[in-house]
Amino acid sequence: KVYQITLIPGDGIGPEVTSAARKVLAAAGVVIDWEMVDAGAGAINKHGTTLPDETIESIRKNKVALKGPLTTPIGEGFKSVNVQLRKTLDLYANIRPVRSALGITFQHKPIDLVIFRENTEDLYAGLEYEIAPGVTQSLKIITEKASTRIARAAFEWARQNKRKMVHAVHKANIMKKSDGLFLDCVRKVAKEYPEIAYKEIIVDNCAMQMVMRPDQFDVVVLGNLYGDIISDLAAGLVGGLGVVPGANIGDEVAIFESVHGSAPDIAGKGVANPIATILSANMMLRHIGEGKAADRIQAALVLFLAERKHLTPDLGGRATTDELVDGLIEKIKML
Ligand code: NAI
Ligand code: MG
Repeated sequence: KVYQITLIPGDGIGPEVTSAARKVLAAAGVVIDWEMVDAGAGAINKHGTTLPDETIESIRKNKVALKGPLTTPIGEGFKSVNVQLRKTLDLYANIRPVRSALGITFQHKPIDLVIFRENTEDLYAGLEYEIAPGVTQSLKIITEKASTRIARAAFEWARQNKRKMVHAVHKANIMKKSDGLFLDCVRKVAKEYPEIAYKEIIVDNCAMQMVMRPDQFDVVVLGNLYGDIISDLAAGLVGGLGVVPGANIGDEVAIFESVHGSAPDIAGKGVANPIATILSANMMLRHIGEGKAADRIQAALVLFLAERKHLTPDLGGRATTDELVDGLIEKIKML
C-alpha cells in the first residue's frame, strides 16, 4: 500500500528533522508518496504568504500531514502560521505524550503522561488591542464548545487506552468566568466516564507538582496557553524538546509535528535531534493504521537509546542528526 501524505518541511531545523523522519519510515518499510508543500517564513519569497492556499488544499485532500516547525516573522504584520493552520483546519486537540520509557529521564519514577491542549482559542485568539497609549489588552476567549470537545477528546482517549485518571488544569480561582466555564465543561464530560478518576489542579501548583512528582499525572487536559507552557515543562523532565512528539487532531484532518520550534540557534548545523519528529511520525503511523511499523520503530529507538551512542548534543552526545538516524536505522533493520 502507498499512502499519500502531505509534508511541510518547515523552517530552521524543520527540513533536517523531517527528512530524518522520512528516512526512518522508509527503513521500516512504510511506503509514502509525500506531497511536499510550503508554509512559514520559507514560503514568503515563493508565494508571498506564510500559508499558501495549495498547502491547505493538500492537507484537506490527504487528511494527514507531517510538519516541521514554522517560523512566524515577528512584527511584520504576519499572524502565527501555526495558529492559522490549526484554526483553518479546526485541529482542536493538541496531543503531546511525554514518556520517560525511552530511557532519558531526570526522575526516579517513570513518567508516562499525555497532554491534551485546547488548540483553537484562549489567549491565542489573537485579539489584542492598544486601548490607550501605554495600555494594551489581550482577550482570553473560552467557549463551551471548545472546552467540551477537548475534554471529550481527553476522556475518550483515556478510555480507549485504559488510562486511570484525568487532571483538568485551570486558574478558576482568579479567572472565575473563563477558566470557570472550562472547568464546568470538563466536569460535565467527566461524569460520562465514571471508570476514570477525575481531579482538578490549579496551574501554578500543577507546574510544581509536575517537577516534583510527575508520576502522579496520567492524562492532563488544559486550555491553550497553560497547555503550551506545561507541555514544555513536561518535555524538560524526559530529555527536552528534542524528544517530545505531538499531534494536532480535528474531526477531519490530523497534522503531526514535534513540540519544539525551528531552533534558529542550531539550524543548518546538522545537529538537531530528530527523535521528536520521528516519534510524531510514529503517532502518524498509528493514526493511519500502521501500528506494527510504529511498534518496530519505537522498539528500535529504545534499543538505540539504551546504548547511549550517537546521541545529539541536546542529549549530551556529539553525534550529528545523520549519525543518529543511521544508528537508529541499523536497529530497525535488526528487528
Ligand atoms: P525552539 O523550540 O525552536 O528552541 C528552544 C531551544 O530548544 C533552543 O535552544 C533549541 O536549540 C532547542 N531545540 C529545539 N528543538 C530541538 C531539537 N530538535 N534538537 C536540539 N535542540 C532543540 O523554541 P524558540 O526558540 O522559542 O522558537 C524558535 C522559533 O520557532 C520561533 O519562530 C517560534 O515561533 C517557532 N516555533 C514554532 C513551533 C511550531 O512550528 N510548531 C513551535 C514553537 C516555536
Ligand atoms: Mg510551545
